[in-house]
Amino acid sequence: MGSGIAHVFALKGFEVTLVEAKKELADKALAVIAKNLDRQVAKGAVTAADKDAALSRIKPALSPKEAPGFQFAVEAVSERMELKTSVFRELDAAAAPGAILATNTSSLSVTEIAASVKDPSRVIGMHFMNPVPVMKLVEIIRGLQTSDETYQVTRELSLKLGKTPAAAKDFPGFISNRVLMPMINEAIYCLMEGVSTKEDIDTVMKLGMAHPMGPLQLADYIGLDVCLAVMEVLHQGF
Ligand code: CAA
Repeated sequence: MGSGIAHVFALKGFEVTLVEAKKELADKALAVIAKNLDRQVAKGAVTAADKDAALSRIKPALSPKEAPGFQFAVEAVSERMELKTSVFRELDAAAAPGAILATNTSSLSVTEIAASVKDPSRVIGMHFMNPVPVMKLVEIIRGLQTSDETYQVTRELSLKLGKTPAAAKDFPGFISNRVLMPMINEAIYCLMEGVSTKEDIDTVMKLGMAHPMGPLQLADYIGLDVCLAVMEVLHQGF
């Protein structure tokens, strides 16, 4: 999701530092962004000049230290609390005073992530949906100590990115995954119990409920590892 988030920020005119753990991953992310921008150029949604300008605004890096004094960060590492908090400590050390540190977590506690930095009032959940350049939603999650200013800036920034913000409290899975993942899990149960084939389960939800993808296809699209991580957060949290 990180490449999609960088894509959208750069296209809307923000200078982006894309931090990856390895150079190969940063190169891969840039290639994915270029490919998705090409797709938008081919559709006439973006001009070739806008594409070039967006790509020129993205600087690959291996540490937040390469963007000292940044004002806004969106973390999008895997759904493991200890990894999130270690990244947040690194972000905290490199940020400008008053910078906002957002997490794209799909279900983990924003309050718990915020406890890893000096000033938890500057931490917020900014949850994008895949594919980020296409999906209009940003779910915004306030931790217990998130300030009104942090919330307002993040909300306004979402609007500047062309997204529609929706607010959620810091409950496990927020709104999106609290509703989505149990549905996906039931589709998996339908398959496991032999209710139907994977094709027909997806067809029921596509044609019967007008979902763009069936739940089993969507589970593969999101990644089964992410689906499992979210279900475990829901199981423990509830
Ligand atoms: N970057 C840029 N543009 C993209 C893109 C990408 N990665 N992927 C698709 N597009 C564009 C296409 O160019 C196309 O544009 P136009 O409308 O201008 O023609 C449009 O999106 C539709 O794409 P396609 O025609 O290729 O394919 P499609 O009509 O089958 O749609 C889809 C593909 C948008 C992925 C659609 O199937 C869909 O909406 N699926 C459901 C996605 C969903 O539910 N996402 C949420 C997952 S949950 C999550 O992300 C959060 C979490 O915490 C787990």
